[in-house]
Amino acid sequence: MKTRLLSGEGDLTAAVEALREGAAVALPTETVYGLAADALNPDAVVKIFEAKERPRFDPLIVHLPEESWLERLTSVSPADTELVAQLISRFWPGPLTLVLPRRSVVPDLVTAGLETVAVRMSAHPVFQQIARAVDRPLAAPSANRFGRISPTRAEDVLAELEGRIPIVVDGGATFHGLESSIVAVRDGGMEILRHGPIALEELAAIAEVLPARERDRPEAPGQLRSHYAPRTPLVLVEALSGCTLPPGRVGALGLGEISRCDFQAVRSLSRTGDLREAAATLFRALRELDDLKLDLIVAETLPEMGLGRAVMDRLRRAAAR
Ligand code: TXA
Ligand code: MG
Repeated sequence: MKTRLLSGEGDLTAAVEALREGAAVALPTETVYGLAADALNPDAVVKIFEAKERPRFDPLIVHLPEESWLERLTSVSPADTELVAQLISRFWPGPLTLVLPRRSVVPDLVTAGLETVAVRMSAHPVFQQIARAVDRPLAAPSANRFGRISPTRAEDVLAELEGRIPIVVDGGATFHGLESSIVAVRDGGMEILRHGPIALEELAAIAEVLPARERDRPEAPGQLRSHYAPRTPLVLVEALSGCTLPPGRVGALGLGEISRCDFQAVRSLSRTGDLREAAATLFRALRELDDLKLDLIVAETLPEMGLGRAVMDRLRRAAAR
C-alpha cells in the first residue's frame, strides 16, 4: 500500500473520505499522533489492530467529535455525573481520557470486551476539523507499531507505519509529546490508569484519587511492564555525574546541562530543567538516540512530581526488557 502524506494546512477531504470509507488514517493530536478509524465500524477498527500488530486484548481510546457523543457512548452512574461534568469542563478538549461505563453501541473490539470505554476529545485543530467532518467517534491508539515509542511527528509515523496505512496527516510536532492522562471515574473518585500531561496534583485538586485496583490483566498497555521501548538497551541511573562510562557507544539522556564526557551523543530533555518541556521532548529524543545504533542509552531519573511522574513512568517501561 502506498502511504500519502497530507499537509494539515491543505485540503483534508481525502482523509475525511478515507475515514468514512472505513480506512485507518494517521492524524495529529495534541499528545501524540493517533491511528484513527470509525469507532462504530468494527471492519474499520480491525485495520488499526492489523497495521499496529496490536493484540486484540488491548482496548482503544474513542475520540469524540462533539461533547454530545458522550451520552450516546457512555452511561455514567448518578454518583459520578457531577465529577465527570467537572473534569470535562476543566480539561476537555484536551489530554484527559475518561474510562466510563459503556453503552452497547460501542463494539467489543474497541473495548476488548470490557464493560467500560475510554473516551476523550482532542484539542488539536486538525484532528477536530477531521472528526467533525466525518461526524463519527474515532478510535485512535498511538500511531506506532505495538510496544514501540509513540510518534510525535509525521516522519515518526512514516517510520513506523509507511506502506501499512493509506494516509498520514502532517500537523507538525505534537504539543504535549506524551499520551493523554487516563482516569477511571468510579464511586465519586478517580483512579489514575496512566500518568500523562495532566499531572496527579491537578487531578487531586478536583476529587479524591483512589488507590489502583488489582487487575488480573492489564487494562492499559501503558500498564505492561515493557512498553515505549527503543531497540537500544536503556538503563536508568540516579545521576549522570562522573564520567566513568560502560564500554561501547553510549548515549545520555537527562535534564539540564549534561557534560559530554565520552558519550557518543547527549540529549537534554530541558536545558532549564522544566519538566513539561522534558515531557514534550522525551519521545523525540529517545527516537533520535535509538536511530544512532548505540550500544546503550543511559537515562537520568527525573523528580517524580508534576509531569516528572509521567516521564519516569515511560522511562521505566523503556528500560524494562
Ligand atoms: O494521547 C493519547 O491517549 C493517544 C492519542 C492518539 O489520543 N492515544 C493513545 O492510545 O495513547 P493507546 O492505544 O496507545 O493507549 C490507550 C490506552 C491503552 O493503554 C488502553 O489499554 C487504555 O487506553 N484503555 C482503553 N480502553 C480502556 C478501558 N476501557 N479501560 C482501561 N483502559 C483502557
Ligand atoms: Mg500506545
